[in-house]
Amino acid sequence: MKTKIIRLNSRHQEKEKIQEAAQVLQQGGIVAFPTETVYGLGARLTDRAALKKIFSAKKRPADNPLIVHVADYADLADIAEATPLAKKLMKKFWPGPLTLVLKKKPMVPDLATAGLKSVAVRMPSHPVALALIKATGEPIAAPSANLAGRPSPTTAEHVYHDLKGRVPLILDAGETTVGLESTVMDLTHTPPAILRPGAVTFEELKKVMPNLHPHPFRGVARQFICRKKKAGDKPPRYLNQQKETPLAPGMKYRHYAPQAKLTLVMPGITKVIARERERPKQSRRYTESAGIASPAKIFKKNLGRLAMTHNKNTAILDLRQEKNLKKVARRLFASLRSLDQKGVKNIIVYGVPEKGIGDAIMNRLRKAASRIIE
Ligand code: TXA
Ligand code: MG
Repeated sequence: MKTKIIRLNSRHQEKEKIQEAAQVLQQGGIVAFPTETVYGLGARLTDRAALKKIFSAKKRPADNPLIVHVADYADLADIAEATPLAKKLMKKFWPGPLTLVLKKKPMVPDLATAGLKSVAVRMPSHPVALALIKATGEPIAAPSANLAGRPSPTTAEHVYHDLKGRVPLILDAGETTVGLESTVMDLTHTPPAILRPGAVTFEELKKVMPNLHPHPFRGVARQFICRKKKAGDKPPRYLNQQKETPLAPGMKYRHYAPQAKLTLVMPGITKVIARERERPKQSRRYTESAGIASPAKIFKKNLGRLAMTHNKNTAILDLRQEKNLKKVARRLFASLRSLDQKGVKNIIVYGVPEKGIGDAIMNRLRKAASRIIE
């Protein structure tokens, strides 16, 4: 299959281009498209054959449900039961990076929800995503447009890298603005719970739901750390300790992982890595003489001045003094992908405090990490 890329401008979109993509969906195909968070890989919600294509193109396990993207509230009525709390959250955070897990209605195919009685729904704020849903005339079911287990794509190039030859069409509207996937909130249980932290933060949500708890893994590095995983090892099991069942299907898989071995150093730790800081100048020279663009340069481009290179195999990303965490969130996955492309073998990341968007950043880093130093 040849993969076509259509470039379009977020603000002044050409209608014919959106129409071409909508037609692919209407004819039973799948399309990768931008949202404000990351690129999604979409199919018409009621097209079971196309939903299957999403799972096979991404190599996604069939037990990991998709997110249904809507463009207006009328779409929602057929899909899910919106409780008063859901309506309140929608009013405050939609369109935007908040996904709500609600009780599903019969028109939602089991394939999209992996057989669950609930369905995840969100209204994206990206104009191209909204225009595509409207032109298609139906909600679009879409996971992130990466190969399963790889960092989510924040550019059309990332999508192409993972899914070249596996999808017919990619809509390219440039880099996404948020850079991390949406916050996922489960409203089908009491109390409501954050299943995946994202750009809509715990602190913002708590203002609407004063009894809300942080998502279960915030600040709990221990259950991941103690086991040293080799890259490619089985993922840590993301279990609710009481029930021993996965909290959200997606949480049991290793995610967002670069090919390099990522070591995450929790905030407050300085000693362990001191050794790695020796002789940075010599290492830099070595890197340059080996003809490899230095990871420091990649980070400078992507994440500012905070990266250091030690040798051609190791990059250090020090986020501790980074003031602009939104920018870190926006460029995190892109940075991990560039380092993989440069063949870096080890990435050491000094983490940030888990508050605000730092919560989502650390959540993704934990899942990407082979080793966490606490
Ligand atoms: O920002 C985003 O959410 C992006 C863009 C494309 O919208 N999408 C995205 O989709 O990240 P995906 O499939 O990569 O992540 C969806 C997450 C998974 O962890 C999945 O397990 C969870 O949402 N999920 C979906 N339906 C669910 C349900 N009914 N109950 C619990 N979790 C659910
Ligand atoms: Mg995903």
